[in-house]
Amino acid sequence: MIGHFLDIWDLDSETANNIIKLTLDFKYNNFYSKSLQNKHIGLLFSKPSTRTRVSFEVGIRELGGNSIFLQENALQISRGEDPADSARTLSRYLDGVVIRTGSHDWLLEFSKFSTIPVINALTDLTHPCQAMSDVFTLYEAFKENIKNLNILYIGDGNNMANALISVSAMFGLNLTVCTPKGLTPNKENLEKALEFAKKTNANIVLEHDPLKAIKDKDIVYTDVWVSMNDSDADKKISLLKDYQVNKELLSYAKKEVKVMHCLPAKKDQEITADVFEEHADFIFNQAENRLHTQKAIMHILFDGTSKVASI
Ligand code: CP
Ligand code: NVA
Repeated sequence: MIGHFLDIWDLDSETANNIIKLTLDFKYNNFYSKSLQNKHIGLLFSKPSTRTRVSFEVGIRELGGNSIFLQENALQISRGEDPADSARTLSRYLDGVVIRTGSHDWLLEFSKFSTIPVINALTDLTHPCQAMSDVFTLYEAFKENIKNLNILYIGDGNNMANALISVSAMFGLNLTVCTPKGLTPNKENLEKALEFAKKTNANIVLEHDPLKAIKDKDIVYTDVWVSMNDSDADKKISLLKDYQVNKELLSYAKKEVKVMHCLPAKKDQEITADVFEEHADFIFNQAENRLHTQKAIMHILFDGTSKVASI
């Protein structure tokens, strides 16, 4: 039982590995779970979402639960009600809450007062459900060889970069993060990851030169240059113009390189349309896996007494 899932750092290695194994069981072995039977799960979102919202709503129903979508602008939170009071109120009605919000600090404050499990569905700091799902996508494709992959994240040092740094440390992966000097990932999270990496032999490297970073990579991951929380779009686009994933850049990676994107994509900004289409199968498999991974996360969070099926 892990309580809240606000960040990758809320998991220990064993639980993180169990999530990946259980996801495999949900996707391929018809693992049966009604761990949300008679449970009401709120989805409190202050930002748009396609994948996260729909995959959580479907996953909750498949686990036997009921989901209630709570758009922030329809709640008193939008008029300034304290996160502490909102958390204490919602805890009286619901059994769990999935939150997408701009401020990670707001999420932490809400979670401090919540007596029901809280799941982070994206903040300005991190996107842990996406990153766990991405590890599953890599595990599904490469099995134990996942630890030998050379993975590159290229683009903005944003919530996705931070989340990938965290999972790489947790699972012992080799990750290069290539960003412009002015857009490096969160320092505190990186320090935590480098400390954790000593235990797992993860190799996490920061680089600013795309041509150096791309060399011999098996996986190239990118994300939008302008995130939902960003106000300085023009500045970001101009800083990132040499960090696009295109045919020319990919010609320096391994021949069989796979491209990943958490979506939504802004074609011809962070990734060219031709590269996106060439790698669409892998990218949309990534999107599908959100559903299976989040079912595993919720099963473990809400049914702490159950053993993970395949171990
Ligand atoms: N990747 C992701 O979280 O997508 P949405 O913003 O559509 O939920
Ligand atoms: N970095 C992006 C991720 C979207 C899933 C954002 O925060 O908008």
